[in-house]
Amino acid sequence: MKLPGEIALMTAADMLASQYVQTVHERPVYPAPAQIKALDGFDEDLPQAPSSPHTMLDMLDTLGSPATSVSTGPHYFGFVIGGVLPAAAAADRMVSAWDQCASSHANSPIAAKLEALAGRWVLDILDLPRSAAVGFGTSATACGLSCFAAARRELLARLNWDLDNDGLVGAPEIKVVVSDISHITIFKALRILGFGKRHLLVAKTDEQGRIDVNTLPPLDDRTILCLQAGEVNGGDFDPFIPLIKKAKAAGAWVNVDGAFGLWARATKTHRHLTDGIELADSWTTDGHKWLNTPYDSAMAIVKDGEAFARATNADAVYATAETHAQKNLTLEFSRRARGIPVWAVLKTLGRQGVCEMVERHCRQANMLAKGIDGKNGIKVLNDVVLNQVLCTTNGEESPSAFTERMNATGKLWFGNTVWRGKPAFRLSVSNWRTTDADIERAISVLTT
Ligand SMILES: Cc1ncc(COP(=O)(O)O)c(C=O)c1O
Repeated sequence: MKLPGEIALMTAADMLASQYVQTVHERPVYPAPAQIKALDGFDEDLPQAPSSPHTMLDMLDTLGSPATSVSTGPHYFGFVIGGVLPAAAAADRMVSAWDQCASSHANSPIAAKLEALAGRWVLDILDLPRSAAVGFGTSATACGLSCFAAARRELLARLNWDLDNDGLVGAPEIKVVVSDISHITIFKALRILGFGKRHLLVAKTDEQGRIDVNTLPPLDDRTILCLQAGEVNGGDFDPFIPLIKKAKAAGAWVNVDGAFGLWARATKTHRHLTDGIELADSWTTDGHKWLNTPYDSAMAIVKDGEAFARATNADAVYATAETHAQKNLTLEFSRRARGIPVWAVLKTLGRQGVCEMVERHCRQANMLAKGIDGKNGIKVLNDVVLNQVLCTTNGEESPSAFTERMNATGKLWFGNTVWRGKPAFRLSVSNWRTTDADIERAISVLTT
């Protein structure tokens, strides 16, 4: 069946999307209350009959677009949110048109080809063991969960415990060491897998959020050690060399959460922060943060690709596939070909382009920190080692009041946090669009 006007509808959607993108420099970075209130225009009972898709599209544009947070624009400094690169957005449009179930070669030869290639390039640019398997999952949360599942299954297998058949009842206890500042999604993944919070062993961190090697709980061959490349507030890295050395000597499994920070490894200036990371057993990172791919793009990387594939295998009698088919390396069975935009970014930026973008953001974060520290009551709290600037105020105005007042200008947006028990706010430079002039503009808004 052909829908009359299908192409006209797609063209209209593309035109509206392009118009939106063209205005991201000028739009208020966060919608005003009136635009949020206008979202009430969507409220209606479930339609009983079909209606024009053009009317639907018009609603998305007239009510939806003004109520977006313009995180894809150059003035957004919240969380660690990149803006989608044009090459990645263009590739994603093709992925949508192809509508592939990217589970295996049998379902989609093109997706299998490009995701395998993207995986190899990811290992190359991040300089991780080339034997590793790469699963393109939805998020660092989901990818972390599959890495922990692989870690536990493998540690138990080494103890001759068959997790797949015998489950956890009566199994040897697998311990997990986290830091007191591991990301919340690490705790979420562990909780879902049944690692109760009360049983986690917590390593202490220093003033910048790095694990203090001397206070590391004891490790053994029944331990998963969770390390971090890029702490979400200040962006710092755990000292990998001494920590992984200890873990390897004990036979523990090391997992690194590098949701954004792993990309420092693609630079010349900041690669040293990741020294020793290649000795870990598994790593997670996002495309949708610092690589500036569309959302729903993350990577689970496991050195022992066979162990990974055993943990996440989903072969059915009607759907067998190669060991490293994406459905056997991710939590999904049916899935979007989300590795293709990753391929598109690496294809078009190349090693040099990724390096330039990440190094630029680190330089700009320093520029921002220098421009605001000590002005307008702002105090920068962290050593700006990466792209994160963690700040507080001198107390005349609380950090949250300051954040709210600044965000209300519509000229930028950033978020609050709590650092070492005290309210703070943080600015992240991670959008490919952000120029030095945008940083100067942000400094001027923040300091006047
Ligand atoms: C350090 C760190 N780990 C994990 C996550 C979770 O990533 P995702 O939102 O892709 O699940 C984030 C970000 O939100 C993060 O900054």
